[in-house]
Amino acid sequence: PPLVPFVDDLPRLPVISAPERLVAADAMHRFHRDLDPAPSFGFGGLTHHGPTIETQAGAEPVITVVNRLQRHPMGTDVDTTLHGASDLDRTHPPLVVHLHGAPNRPADDGFPTSPFRLGRAVTYRFRNPGEAAQLWYHDHSMGTTRLSIYAGLSGHYLVRDEWDTGRHDNPLGLPAGEYETPLVMCDKLFYPDGRLRYDNTPAVAAGHVTGGMAGDTMVVNGVVWPRMSVDRGAYRFRVLSASQLNDYRLSLSDGSPFWVIGSDGGLLDAPVQVRALTISPAERYDILIDFGDRRPGDRIQLINTMQISWVGQAIGATTVRWVMRFDVGSRRGRHRRIPDRLRGSAHQPQVLARIGGERVDRVRTATLNLTANPGNPSWLGVLAMNLNNLPFHTDDFEHPVQGSLECWDLVNADVTMQPHAIHLHLVQFRVVGRWDFDKVRYLADNPPPPFGTRWTPSPRDYLTSALFAPSPYETGWKDTVRCPPDQVTRILVRWPTARELGFDPDAVFAGHNGERLQGYVWHCHLTDHEDNEMMQRLRVVAR
Ligand code: C2O
Ligand code: CU
Repeated sequence: PPLVPFVDDLPRLPVISAPERLVAADAMHRFHRDLDPAPSFGFGGLTHHGPTIETQAGAEPVITVVNRLQRHPMGTDVDTTLHGASDLDRTHPPLVVHLHGAPNRPADDGFPTSPFRLGRAVTYRFRNPGEAAQLWYHDHSMGTTRLSIYAGLSGHYLVRDEWDTGRHDNPLGLPAGEYETPLVMCDKLFYPDGRLRYDNTPAVAAGHVTGGMAGDTMVVNGVVWPRMSVDRGAYRFRVLSASQLNDYRLSLSDGSPFWVIGSDGGLLDAPVQVRALTISPAERYDILIDFGDRRPGDRIQLINTMQISWVGQAIGATTVRWVMRFDVGSRRGRHRRIPDRLRGSAHQPQVLARIGGERVDRVRTATLNLTANPGNPSWLGVLAMNLNNLPFHTDDFEHPVQGSLECWDLVNADVTMQPHAIHLHLVQFRVVGRWDFDKVRYLADNPPPPFGTRWTPSPRDYLTSALFAPSPYETGWKDTVRCPPDQVTRILVRWPTARELGFDPDAVFAGHNGERLQGYVWHCHLTDHEDNEMMQRLRVVAR
């Protein structure tokens, strides 16, 4: 029988300051009142997800991460044909932690091919951004990231500053304390006995990556379709999509507006009023919902109205409509005002003030592509999502120059019409806008060569629209951008210099197994894609 929604309370994941040690371990976790506890992964003693780490702008928390993972809850889904995956992943699950969105030193950025296993501890010296932001931490092990994030290895990381103190007396008047709640959401599948289920594609042999995991049940903070009792006032929700495949389009069931006040890398200049918010995997939005005018007893659902992608439809998925429910009580809330202004760009030191008015040093074309990959028989025979028609293990990757300003034109040439979510490590960037383009003619005129040869034709002659501006809530700092099908998404990136960073972003470093490494990665954050070649290295080289 289907699970009954809105019967479990929304868990408040514990908020802690940066811990000295953070243990990742197996656990038994109950996702719903009517399900038995099931195998899961958690950080810091939690049975699913990790604690919300709250820390200060500019700080460099030193955290020793201990791997006590012994039995992968998704062990039967480990696909040993993927780069980086092996049989050992079932009994000695790999771990490497990435603090997503932070300007980390290369050695502390969680390089995917450099995981460590049971009994080992690795000390990370993280590097916080210079202003308040909503980051997250998660496992990034090559070839098993999708399974380990799904099993629970993710958590919020909130960076505070003098504007966004996290206390009631913050100068912006933002809801704080019990009126600020992180929400991490992702759609999942369950077996009747309560165990998490990942394989959802009958067309793919068991134990092989499927190209995408779409669930039929929403899990928020580790609980299926939770409910939350709210006072009649304003709340701040730090929304993180830990979805594997699906984009969500979030609305309130009564159609009322809410406000977006921040994106991946920090606060917007002013709140943006919306009735719907699109969020793709790994994106974060900071939102305010005002329950001040609601009546005691009102019940308002947070819903998702995003149409399922073709890939999702092909694997039988349908839109998961409910996310969670707010039950309005009689108490008056402490916060009853939506601020008119947040922190203006004057307070953002490295702001790319007038996009377009700036001198761009280079426009780079990158293709998001589905290609036959005879070396990897994992998905429907021979297909792999990739970037620039290249596998992860190529030397033909991007080498942006420190201090340069670049536009990246992300060409979604994927014939399956899948939106992708592209994430660049190290930087926060801006979304310039998007064009429609004629993908069919683009592909016909520029047929991709065999997989392994760079394929980055300019989309310039194939654009079929003017540049669409990004959604107003996408105009702040971003580290992950939604790349819709049949569109070219342009982002503007300024590559920091070693001097600005205070370290050499191109330093050679030793991986956790002693290997010699250099650079960062950029990739699609649909986790099945990053695990299957849709990831590249990146070196930010000295001028
Ligand atoms: Cu959220 Cu490369 O990661
Ligand atoms: Cu993708």
